[in-house]
Amino acid sequence: MSQDKDKQAHARKDTHLALAKRDEALAQIAHPFDALSFQHYALPDVNWPDISLTTHLARKQVAAPFFIGAMTGGTDHADHINQALAEVAESHQIALALGSQRASLAQGRSYGFIRKAAPTIPIIGNLGITQLAAPDGVAMAHAAIEAVEADIMAIHLNPLQEAAQPEGDHDWRGCRDALARFISTSPVPVLVKEVGAGLHPQLAEELEAMGAAYLDVAGLGGTNWTRIETLRRTAEDAALFAPFLDWGIDSVSSLQGCVARVTQSKLIASGGIRHGLDVAKALALGASYVCAAGPFLKALAPDETGLSQIALSETITRWQDQLRLVCFLTNCADIRALSPDLLKN
Ligand SMILES: Cc1cc2nc3c(=O)[nH]c(=O)nc-3n(C[C@H](O)[C@H](O)[C@H](O)COP(=O)(O)O)c2cc1C
Repeated sequence: MSQDKDKQAHARKDTHLALAKRDEALAQIAHPFDALSFQHYALPDVNWPDISLTTHLARKQVAAPFFIGAMTGGTDHADHINQALAEVAESHQIALALGSQRASLAQGRSYGFIRKAAPTIPIIGNLGITQLAAPDGVAMAHAAIEAVEADIMAIHLNPLQEAAQPEGDHDWRGCRDALARFISTSPVPVLVKEVGAGLHPQLAEELEAMGAAYLDVAGLGGTNWTRIETLRRTAEDAALFAPFLDWGIDSVSSLQGCVARVTQSKLIASGGIRHGLDVAKALALGASYVCAAGPFLKALAPDETGLSQIALSETITRWQDQLRLVCFLTNCADIRALSPDLLKN
């Protein structure tokens, strides 16, 4: 990466972190999970606090089926946030997904602090598809896996974000081939995700056929990158994207469509998950795991005054208790009993 591009990426990362916390960064559609509710069951035969949420991800046991979604990396501030996220995730024994590792790898930043802070939990590495398609892309993805001893490697697909980003990659020729090449050589399972505009079920089927072990729908309903990128443009410049601000497939539609068509890859639901009740709805619809990014960032770093690991930790505990409460109120002995039959539309 040239020094200028490097500086640009550096500034962009920190701007993204600040903008992602603003209300204007959220999709402005009816919240997709609000269209669903559980059927209340008035005679449960389970003990709320005892309900187990444990499951396995990449052969490791985790304390909950939800995890901290991919966010950031590549600046001092981003490293500081990742370190805090890693420590809290480790203390709760939930998985952690890292944001794009491109900038860190390009700058030769060490990632050693991640595994030091989180030696036992599943860590998910991350790179964008357009970086993967660059001449040294597959080698970079292998380096990203090594740098954090990743249990899973995520590749994000973000054509709308790249289109809206002033410095975005607009030439996507070769991306599909690069992804197929990487999946066939990756030493760890590969996760393919969107970043908030959703995966179409047909594309999910194609990605499954390529060998993606995990698919994160990352649908429309939460953090919205078209809105964030246009906030970085002048009003005149942003006009082009005005009709596209809420373009995408909402998280619930994307998940339901993928559940109907995907048989081998494990599905992850994300995009607008706000609490443990949303987590429960996503699991009931057929997701194996659920993740959230924006809500955990806001809990950890509500303003510019510092990071609150206590607030993040309380949020995770609250989500776990809410998930258990859904099981209690629907008479489910554990999260595996959550099913679409318990939902009314
Ligand atoms: C500050 C921030 C930075 C992000 N950076 C990345 C990234 O580098 N790679 C990636 O795959 N997704 C990235 N995302 C997208 C999230 O992983 C997620 O798909 C999206 O935010 C939707 O989830 P949410 O509504 O819970 O935020 C980022 C999200 C946030 C909030």
